[in-house]
Amino acid sequence: MAQARDQWTTRTGFILAAVGSAIGLGNIWRYPYVVYDNGGGAFLLPYFFALLTAGIPILLLEYSLGHKYRGSGPLSFRRLSKKWEWLGWWQSLIAFLISGYYMVILGWALSYTYYSFGTQWGSETQTFFLEKYLGAADFGSFTPQLKVLIPVVLLWAFVYYVMRQQAHRGIEKLARILMPLLVIMLVIITIRGVTLPGAAEGLNTLFTPDFTALADPQVWVAAYGQVFFSLSVGFATMITYASYLNKKEDLANSGLVAAFANSGFEFMAAIGIFGALGFLAAQSGVGVDEVVNQGVILAFVIFPQIINELPFLNSFFGVTFFGALVFAGLTSIVSLLEPAISAIRDKTGAARTTVVNWIVGLAALMSVLYATDGGLNYLDTIDHYLNSYGLLIAATLMAVATAWTTRKVGELQSHINQVSDVHIGKWWVICVSVVTPVMLIIMTGLNIRTEWLVPYSGYPMPWLIGMGWGALVAVLIAAVILQSKEWKVNTGQAEQQEKEGA
Ligand code: PFF
Repeated sequence: MAQARDQWTTRTGFILAAVGSAIGLGNIWRYPYVVYDNGGGAFLLPYFFALLTAGIPILLLEYSLGHKYRGSGPLSFRRLSKKWEWLGWWQSLIAFLISGYYMVILGWALSYTYYSFGTQWGSETQTFFLEKYLGAADFGSFTPQLKVLIPVVLLWAFVYYVMRQQAHRGIEKLARILMPLLVIMLVIITIRGVTLPGAAEGLNTLFTPDFTALADPQVWVAAYGQVFFSLSVGFATMITYASYLNKKEDLANSGLVAAFANSGFEFMAAIGIFGALGFLAAQSGVGVDEVVNQGVILAFVIFPQIINELPFLNSFFGVTFFGALVFAGLTSIVSLLEPAISAIRDKTGAARTTVVNWIVGLAALMSVLYATDGGLNYLDTIDHYLNSYGLLIAATLMAVATAWTTRKVGELQSHINQVSDVHIGKWWVICVSVVTPVMLIIMTGLNIRTEWLVPYSGYPMPWLIGMGWGALVAVLIAAVILQSKEWKVNTGQAEQQEKEGA
């Protein structure tokens, strides 16, 4: 007899968990820099194109798969067609791999929340972060850094506690507590950012459109990558979350609410952060473009500088900013772990606590790699490959599986329309079956070619291939092996399962 499926208490609980998953590091530190680096105001065009033709349609596709087939990624795909179960495993395992380094960034943020008291990073924020805190060394160096390891272990202990509980007691409750706090913190950061002297210059820099960027395929890749990562689609997370939703609940509305809440949040974060960057530039007497930097440096080197320069309440704003990163990240990391946990429970019928012991234990072990002195290189490499390739390839395959090989998109559309107030039309079918896969295939092809010629970040090719492609292929092999194993539970159609009380 299958065990009862976890279930959210209400639709609001589901939406909060989904928005909690979506709003994370991707919104606060990744988005502002991605906009700036990819054409400023002009980037909004590929961003909205990717959001409306790929992000929201694939989000609804995931909702419909999880809700109709009432299973984790592998179980839902298995019910769609026996041939595609591995794709659910691949996605769930990619999410699991991400959790290993995502947590280390949260560990840095937790340390910096503590360092904010009395701005303990001092005036040389770059030396502090790279040398004193990370002890940054080259590829091939594996000495653990205690300063990083301790906060990471503390956070894992907390996440372990949350994950042991059923989804509505753990994940949902976490989102119910942290999301409102996060909104308040973001409002504080944004208001502070835009009211600083020099803020207008920062916003001008952010939004001044560079239309030539639109001809660059990399800009489009960046838009798709940002939209997918930020919305948490392509990792079977939303399939899993939707499978915990009551059978009659609305899907289309929930998807639109989640998507617009997520975009609104990143928009506000970008305004606040660029306001603050304008202020720093004015204080240092340089152009805004000289103080902008990529995600890691922006958050942990430039932001501490801004906090040093603030006229008053420096520690308070430091704690608010880094605390917001921790809170936003916590509600996301649980959603990176849940797909694998749910999948293994579905496949083996094992108790939640047993599976959580394994998954959280292994993910915490993986984190040790990134908490070493060479960790920043490993983190950057794995992050790039999982997100620029793994994610986009997985999303393409989802479209191929549902629209091209099984031709079930129509059925999934009817499923959404049966339960939702807002009806979705033909546009959805066209986006899922044609526009998105075609765009993703073109972009992935171009990306592979570009990076074949110029290795990512100038890193050594053997490391890039070994770690980046190595990780993707390793989880693919694991996915195929898992597909070949027997199910201990009923994989018949969801309706039948429901009758048995599952
Ligand atoms: N959406 C999260 C962020 O913006 O940081 C990251 C994420 C969480 C991606 C969960 C994927 C996922 F399944």
